[in-house]
Amino acid sequence: MQQFRGLRSTLLLAALLPPCAFAGSPSAAPTVEERVEKLLAQMTIEEKVGQLTQYSGSGAVTGPVSFEGDVRHSNHRELLESGRIGSMLNVTGTNATRQYQEVALRSRLHIPLLFGQDVIHGYKMIFPIPLAEAASWDLEGIERSARIAATEAAAGGVHWTFAPMVDIARDPRWGRVMEGAGEDPWLGSRIAEARVRGFQGKGPGDLTAVMATAKHFAAYGAAIGGREYNSVDMSLRTLWEIYLPPFEAAARAGADSFMNSFNDLNGIPATGNAYLLNDILKGRWGFTGIVVSDWGSIGEMVPHGYARDLEQAAQEAITAGNDMDMESDAYRNHLAGLVAQGKVPLARVDDAVRRVLRKKFELGLFDDPYRFIDPERERAVLNDPSHRKAAREMADRSIVLLRNSPRVLPLDVKGRTVAFIGPLAKAGKENHGGWAVSLPDVDYERFVTTPFDALRARLPQGTRLLYARGCSVQGEDRSGFAEALDVARQADVILVSVGEDWTMSGEARARAHLGLPGVQEDLVKELHALGKPMVVLIGAGRPLIFPWISENVPAILYTWWLGTEAGDAITDVLLGDVNPSGRLPITFPRSMGQIPLYYNHLNTGRPAPGDAAKEYTTGYIDEKNVPRYAFGFGLGYTTFEYSGLRLDRKELRGDGKVRASLEVANTGGVAGDEVVQLYLHQKVASVVRPVKELKGFRRVHLAPGERRRVEFEIGREELSFIDMALHRVTEPGDIEVLIGASSEDIRQRAEFSLLD
Ligand code: NOJ
Repeated sequence: MQQFRGLRSTLLLAALLPPCAFAGSPSAAPTVEERVEKLLAQMTIEEKVGQLTQYSGSGAVTGPVSFEGDVRHSNHRELLESGRIGSMLNVTGTNATRQYQEVALRSRLHIPLLFGQDVIHGYKMIFPIPLAEAASWDLEGIERSARIAATEAAAGGVHWTFAPMVDIARDPRWGRVMEGAGEDPWLGSRIAEARVRGFQGKGPGDLTAVMATAKHFAAYGAAIGGREYNSVDMSLRTLWEIYLPPFEAAARAGADSFMNSFNDLNGIPATGNAYLLNDILKGRWGFTGIVVSDWGSIGEMVPHGYARDLEQAAQEAITAGNDMDMESDAYRNHLAGLVAQGKVPLARVDDAVRRVLRKKFELGLFDDPYRFIDPERERAVLNDPSHRKAAREMADRSIVLLRNSPRVLPLDVKGRTVAFIGPLAKAGKENHGGWAVSLPDVDYERFVTTPFDALRARLPQGTRLLYARGCSVQGEDRSGFAEALDVARQADVILVSVGEDWTMSGEARARAHLGLPGVQEDLVKELHALGKPMVVLIGAGRPLIFPWISENVPAILYTWWLGTEAGDAITDVLLGDVNPSGRLPITFPRSMGQIPLYYNHLNTGRPAPGDAAKEYTTGYIDEKNVPRYAFGFGLGYTTFEYSGLRLDRKELRGDGKVRASLEVANTGGVAGDEVVQLYLHQKVASVVRPVKELKGFRRVHLAPGERRRVEFEIGREELSFIDMALHRVTEPGDIEVLIGASSEDIRQRAEFSLLD
């Protein structure tokens, strides 16, 4: 503490301006801009480059470390002490962040470090993976989950999260589909805003907030073949219409930073892509925050064949608009030289440095570099019981019931014997899925309850619960089948929990085969042959393809990776304490050959008459066109009826709105939530329009027998699209209004005309 006080006062002397230095308002405190300029004026070029350099700590690293990222390492310490590093990632917890901050503050200008971390779906309390959260169609819940993650991370000394990932993903082979909100630009945009709001709270300086990062800018989700780090080749119109909207939404919601991506876009790596960074992000959208490269992506422009060496890569990146270099060593080694040679304007470097310093001032780090580092607050926040409750609610809402016929769920367990079988039945920390922070002091064995243990704890007296593993997720070993069958024979109902290993989705986890790995499907088949009521639970980070199970097993729950509260949430749904209400945010294909498959496709000139091709219409000779489970699909334990769709006008002009309203009724026996979805389709336009596009939804809770009018407003924004000149426009025409329970299950239709 003593040391801190000493450092802090030196720091204040160096970095704070005396109020009297500002003409016009002698007593006013200097503004952030004034403080930034004052500091900038004192910096050498090497110190400026330092502010643009980010390294990883050596704890839980998230990429190939270019440099021994440990504060104990002498070279590293030297760089920190000489102001050559402006930011660290993968250093978390008040202990570690304090150590680093202390060393950095010994530098000449005592500029504090920014600590960044991939806080993707929780920090200590892990929420469902982002794709699962997207299945909740619960924007408030998603915002709350990001809020809690931020509160915890900020209490652990983190200033900056590399989230949300807002990449649209239409290809489930790509392992990173788990990190985003799925395939839809409209839903993706609303979720992007919710996550930015949640992470950033009241904004920089709020002790419960972290800076958000919209990533990966841009089009990373469209890697050809779903292969990780692969190239992206797409029309600019598709870029603008499908892939950019969530980024624009994040920018408008005030995201403090953007991260670019590993891919090239039409031949230009995103990291050196001036069209993306300078023209669109900083130009058209007026973004004033920090653009950070992805891990090593500046250096990767060399193997891309876009830069001859690291020096040219540094030049390309900074001039294209990239501000901070994560782990490439390109700026630290070459930027000062490039400026000296006149190859990079000093003004561009200054602009990048200003963006970084501004955030450090806004965060209050110059006033107190340790303000986020308070072990007592850390302890209290990380043990806040309300976080567990919120994680449970989110997990409850993220589960998708794919089939329940003949009806097995909710389970009737009283006095019966239940067999819980499968490699994921006793999954503990695996339920956190990919991109979950691991904190050294947490005993995860105790922190996470397995589905088996959660169910056992809540079964009524007289109900027996049996267990057998059966097999592993991967591998060919069937030696556990006999025991599993034995256990199943004693049971009245069989639960089988299968899926991917949690390590099979996430970065660098593209898969060319999306069936259930290993012998799991065979296990399910053998258990099914016993002829007993059966539920299959599938845990995965992406849509898997499981045709036999889809067609034969009566009850299927998609449980993704639901986080710390997976066990209890699964139990809630199994026992009927929660009526499942998740809806798919991404299409589940029937077979690999259909990929990429997404609901908002364009029509061809030869549309198929039904669900498959016939006589010279679009399709396959050996597969249907329709998915296995459509975007927006999900069942529950009750039924809903839609009726009486009315539009308040048939013609729309100017800035008016069409009000569409309909009645939704709960016609089943239990209370439940319905996600009423609004899709629009413009029948004729100057560019072919998707067959339907999601433009709104309402999540309504209805008691049995209850009915409610649900209303949507449709205006210019919902009707706009990107024309051939890349402008967002509306065009007169006839608009179909399609309202339903999924993108395929349209229950009500109407039409109006846009007149001007
Ligand atoms: C690489 C990933 O692409 C990015 O999403 C992540 O934020 C960085 N590594 C840092 O871990």
